[in-house]
Amino acid sequence: MQITYYGHSCFGVETNGTNLLFDPFISGNELASDIDTEQIPADYILLTHGHQDHVLDVEDIAKRTGAQVITNFEIMNWLAGKGVDNVHPMNHGGAFSFDFGHVRYVTAVHSSMLPDRANGGNPGGFVVELSEGPTFYYSGDTALTYDMKLIAQRHDIDFAFLCIGDNFTMDAVDATTAAEFVGTDTVIGMHYDTFPPIKIDHDEAKRAFHDKGKTLLLPSIGETLSSDALK
Ligand code: NI
Ligand code: MN
Repeated sequence: MQITYYGHSCFGVETNGTNLLFDPFISGNELASDIDTEQIPADYILLTHGHQDHVLDVEDIAKRTGAQVITNFEIMNWLAGKGVDNVHPMNHGGAFSFDFGHVRYVTAVHSSMLPDRANGGNPGGFVVELSEGPTFYYSGDTALTYDMKLIAQRHDIDFAFLCIGDNFTMDAVDATTAAEFVGTDTVIGMHYDTFPPIKIDHDEAKRAFHDKGKTLLLPSIGETLSSDALK
């Protein structure tokens, strides 16, 4: 398994030749101007909620790659209106086994209107148990919530992608508690630096994790992490 960061909350996870892509927002991100969306591989695209900074490039990438989109029911309907028909709808608390692994759509405390003001349903996050690889939690945009403890009751989380940028989501300090709740010591940060209100001090964020005996990884945009980096 390897992980590539495409900026903001967008990550590619390659597992056993299958490429998962999370919350593609690249062409609208100045910090990711070196990333060519045409080159991003995707067999599955997982969308947490309807905000533009999570769905901007989904239509183009889904149409180019034919990837199946995994998201909530309302976003499925929105995508159908754009001619993106290969969509697997989910809703909170439900899980489904795909060929790459098992996915649960879990609670997020946030909002989810789509860019054209269509109803984006309720926002979520994902727990992914790769068939041949680790189990991870991808929080999407969320506040710290006690519900995260339920994830640890059901899943052995090896690492988590957590939002840390503050203002629209939890900050790094709350993310250390989120990591504790879901039961992992290894976190990859997301949803920071892209816009002025979410610019953060990287060293301070890493220190907050270090002080709790945890590790915060902040890969550069375009950087690929191997599974060794997550141990
Ligand atoms: Ni959002
Ligand atoms: Mn967002």
